[in-house]
Amino acid sequence: MSELRAALLALAVLAVSSGCRSKEGKPSPSGGEPVASIPEYMSGDECLFCHRDKVGVSWQNNAHRSTVREAAAGDPALLALASSADKELVNVDLLLGGERLTRFLRKGEYGRLDLLSTAWTPSGAKGEGALVEAGERRWNSKQFSRECAGCHATGFDSSALRFMDISIDCYACHGDVDRSHANDPKRVFLAASRSDSARILSSACAQCHARGGRSRSTKLPFPNNFIAGGDLFVDFEIDTSPGALRSASKTDQHILESIRDVSSAMPGALGCLDCHRVHPGSTRKHRRLSPGAYCESCHGKGKPGRVQWSRDVHNETCGY
Ligand code: HEC
Ligand code: HEC
Ligand code: HEC
Ligand code: HEC
Ligand code: HEC
Ligand code: HEC
Repeated sequence: MSELRAALLALAVLAVSSGCRSKEGKPSPSGGEPVASIPEYMSGDECLFCHRDKVGVSWQNNAHRSTVREAAAGDPALLALASSADKELVNVDLLLGGERLTRFLRKGEYGRLDLLSTAWTPSGAKGEGALVEAGERRWNSKQFSRECAGCHATGFDSSALRFMDISIDCYACHGDVDRSHANDPKRVFLAASRSDSARILSSACAQCHARGGRSRSTKLPFPNNFIAGGDLFVDFEIDTSPGALRSASKTDQHILESIRDVSSAMPGALGCLDCHRVHPGSTRKHRRLSPGAYCESCHGKGKPGRVQWSRDVHNETCGY
């Protein structure tokens, strides 16, 4: 439990005991209008108390869970920094990213993190790990909140510029889960028994994977207090024009194409969850789809089989 969460819970308990009505069930969000403040959602530890068997096991290795994580003493990025830095700058608490780029973070005020200007890449010029400097080395206490937290933390409140939890928790994709779903699973977003539209399903993923988008109301590069289960496109503007697609990496291209088709209600449009599973992370199910134009960007023309696709190598929003 984060310190911010603990403090807010204590306040909530006070509010309830001093006579405020607590709400009974939670209505699922039907619109996409930004909410005024982040609800007191259930934390992942609470969810996993009941869901540890099926989901808990693979969640340990899920990239979403560990996008921001405690800095382990032997981490190569941390070792490289420690051997180069002046003492004052080595108090790193957390690491962000990994395969292409690692960033160093330090705990700041409640619900905020400081971001170090220096990064580390596992594949530097000589094909080995190397630090990447961006000007004079310094901690920035504003950048993470204004440019990153909406996608690399959970429950980010755009007006307070603070998040509830480090990294990506269940709330990010499942929204504000009603406890009564244990008896009626339909009450939780992404339950197998529901039948949400591709637009609503893809909204949950696009809130972070549509990099380059912007909230109309806050102008920040991530959605404004969006709750999964709602319609992202009400307030989040995403450029899916041919020009934007051309300048994006291969990974971002297939994401933007899918968002373009789904948000414009193109018949037969394929949304993220037609191809992806999150628990455990897999794209095996996409192999069973009928071939169509959408497959060509990765398989070329003709019967899908050969793969002409390479993973992301660059993204401006994330600085790699
Ligand atoms: C709109 C949402 C969004 C914003 C804003 C954002 N990120 Fe990301 N970031 C992502 C997503 C999604 C991925 C994973 C992309 C993938 O795997 O294809 C990612 C991946 C990364 C990675 C991992 C790269 C690797 O090694 O694989 C790093 C590092 C990163 N982001 C840093 C940042 C920093 C620093 C900021 C703020 C300056 C930031 N990001 C802002 C969504 C975002
Ligand atoms: C008190 C126990 C409990 C807690 C806490 C709990 N769940 Fe559940 N959940 C259940 C039960 C029981 C079911 C119905 C049986 C099943 O499908 O596992 C269920 C069903 C679900 C389903 C639908 C499963 C399906 O078959 O499609 C999802 C999704 C889900 N829970 C997510 C969550 C998330 C996310 C949290 C935390 C925010 C959470 N649950 C917290 C007990 C719990
Ligand atoms: C809160 C932001 C957020 C949301 C919501 C989100 N993602 Fe991600 N996703 C990320 C970030 C950040 C990473 C990269 C983690 C890293 O490597 O540091 C990532 C990584 C991934 C990856 C590559 C890693 C892997 O597991 O193989 C896939 C695929 C993916 N996400 C799919 C999805 C899908 C599908 C959804 C919707 C159900 C979704 N994501 C929702 C932020 C998000
Ligand atoms: C037609 C099927 C299909 C659709 C639709 C689709 N994807 Fe993918 N996606 C794939 C496949 C296949 C891969 C390659 C996975 C691999 O390399 O094993 C992939 C790769 C990715 C990756 C990079 C994974 C990595 O390990 O680097 C991310 C992130 C991702 N997709 C997110 C999304 C999101 C978000 C959406 C919806 C906006 C989406 N995808 C729509 C099939 C699809
Ligand atoms: C990145 C988005 C994302 C995050 C984060 C996430 N889920 Fe899910 N979850 C999904 C999607 C999408 C499905 C639908 C089935 C699938 O894709 O695996 C799902 C399905 C489920 C199910 C029902 C299906 C099953 O395999 O039993 C449960 C239970 C569940 N999630 C619990 C959790 C819990 C608990 C957490 C946090 C520890 C969590 N989820 C975090 C996207 C997410
Ligand atoms: C984002 C890129 C991407 C898209 C879009 C995509 N695929 Fe794939 N496909 C892959 C990758 C990567 C693999 C190998 C790994 C895997 O199965 O996830 C693959 C594997 C396959 C395989 C198995 C091939 C074999 O030799 O085992 C089939 C079949 C397939 N895809 C069909 C499709 C169909 C049908 C579509 C369109 C509806 C499609 N793919 C769209 C990337 C993609």
